[in-house]
Amino acid sequence: MDTYSPVAHAQPDEAPAERRVTILGATGSIGTSTADVVKHEPGLYRVEAVASGGNAVELARLARELDARFAAIADPGAYQDLKAALAGSGIEPAAGPAAVVEAARRPADLIMAAISGANGLAPTLAALDQGSTVALANKECLVCAGHLFMRTAAAAGATVLPVDSEHNAIFQALGAGRRGDVKRIILTASGGPFRTWAREAMRAVTPAQALKHPNWSMGPKVTIDSATLMNKGLELIEAHHLFEMPESQIDVLVHPQSIIHGMVEFRDGSVVAQLGSPDMRTPIAHCLAWPARIDGRAAQLDLARIGTLSFEAPDLARFPALALARAALQAAGGATTVLNAANEVAVAEFLNGRLGFAEIPGLVEATLEAAGRRGLTREPGSVDEALRVDHDSRLLARELLPEIAAKAF
Ligand SMILES: NC(=O)c1ccc[n+]([C@@H]2O[C@H](COP(=O)([O-])OP(=O)(O)OC[C@H]3O[C@@H](n4cnc5c(N)ncnc54)[C@H](OP(=O)(O)O)[C@@H]3O)[C@@H](O)[C@H]2O)c1
Repeated sequence: MDTYSPVAHAQPDEAPAERRVTILGATGSIGTSTADVVKHEPGLYRVEAVASGGNAVELARLARELDARFAAIADPGAYQDLKAALAGSGIEPAAGPAAVVEAARRPADLIMAAISGANGLAPTLAALDQGSTVALANKECLVCAGHLFMRTAAAAGATVLPVDSEHNAIFQALGAGRRGDVKRIILTASGGPFRTWAREAMRAVTPAQALKHPNWSMGPKVTIDSATLMNKGLELIEAHHLFEMPESQIDVLVHPQSIIHGMVEFRDGSVVAQLGSPDMRTPIAHCLAWPARIDGRAAQLDLARIGTLSFEAPDLARFPALALARAALQAAGGATTVLNAANEVAVAEFLNGRLGFAEIPGLVEATLEAAGRRGLTREPGSVDEALRVDHDSRLLARELLPEIAAKAF
C-alpha cells in the first residue's frame, strides 16, 4: 500500500491467540452469525460486550450463552426486562444509546460493528476513536459519514476489517499486488429476487416477495436494499471510502450465483477473485481470525455441483437506485448522507405498506433534489453534524412521502 490506510492490509504469519470480542448488533443476522463462529472456536474468543436495539430477551439469552461481561440495549424502556433476564448471571446490564457507545468503548481486541442503519454511526466511531480493530458490517456508517469515519480511524490508528462479503473479497484480493497497480475493483451483485422482472411487474411487489432473497439470509433492511440494488449502491460508496478508490474505478457486475464476491483487476490484466459459498460466516470468520485463519462454518464450495457461473451488466433503467448512489458519490459533500437517510425511510415505509416497491428510488431521488435546494448536502464534519443531516433528511423524506407514494396509483 502506498500511503497509510486504516483498512488493514498486512498479513503477518501469526497464530491466532485468545481475543476479546464485542458484538454490536448482536441479536441481528450478522450478530448471530458472529456468535455462531465464536461458539465453534472454544478457547479462542472471549466476549466482552454485546449490544442491541430493543430485543432484551434475545440479548440476554445471547449474553448468557456467550458469557459476556456487559450487555447494552439502546431502548431505555427495555432496561428492566434486560436486568430481569440477566439476574444472577453476573453480566452487567445497561440501557440507552450512551450504553451502546460504552459497549463499543470497552477494551476489546475486535469490535464487530453490525448494527443496521445510521444508528450504528456513533458507537462505531466511538470504537474507532479508541484505536480499536473494527470488523465493519454496518455499511451505512460509511455512506452516512465516510470521510469522517476514515479520518477518525486514521487519526486513532484504528484498523478496519471489511465484513461485507464483497469488500471482504476485495480486501483479500488486494493482497495479491500493490495498491498502485490496481486498475479497478469489481463488486458483484446477485441481482436480487427481481433481476429478471419487467419494470411494470415490479410495481406490485409485496414486502413478503422482496424479503425473499435468492441466495443470502440477511436482516430485513439489507434484504430490501438488495432487491432494489440500492445495496450495491451503498457498497459502491463503502468501497470508495474503504479502499480510497475513485468511483470511476469501481464497477458493478451482476452474478446471480453469488459465488464470486469481488474481484480486483491489476494493470497487467490479471483479475484476482475471491470465491465462497454465499454465507456471511466466511467473511466473519476471516475478520475474527485475521491475519490468521480459523475453520469456516459455511458449506464447502462445490463448483462441480454449481456448474455454471454467469454474469451480466446491471440494468440501471429497471434498478435506478444504483445510478442514484453513484450520482450521490460523484456529487460529494453530504449527498450520500441524504441518500442513506432517505433510503432508510423509504425501506421502512415500504415494509409498513405505505410506499410501493418501485417508488423507493423515487423517494430517495426527490429527497436528494429537495435537500440540495435547502442546502442540506454539506459534508458532515462531526458525528453530531452527520446525525443532524441524517435527521433533517429523514424529515424531508417523510414530508415528500405522500406525493411520491401517490405515484403508484
Ligand atoms: N445480514 C447480512 O448478511 C449482511 C451482509 C452484509 C452487510 N450487512 C450489514 O450489516 C448490518 C447489520 O445487518 P443485519 O442484516 O445483521 O441487520 P439485522 O438483522 O436487522 O440486525 C440489526 C441489529 O442492530 C441492532 N440495533 C438496531 N438499532 C440499534 C441501536 N440503536 N443500537 C444498538 N443496536 C441496534 C438490532 O437489535 P434488535 O434486534 O434489538 O432490534 C440487531 O441486533 C447492516 O448495516 C447491513 O447492511 C449485513
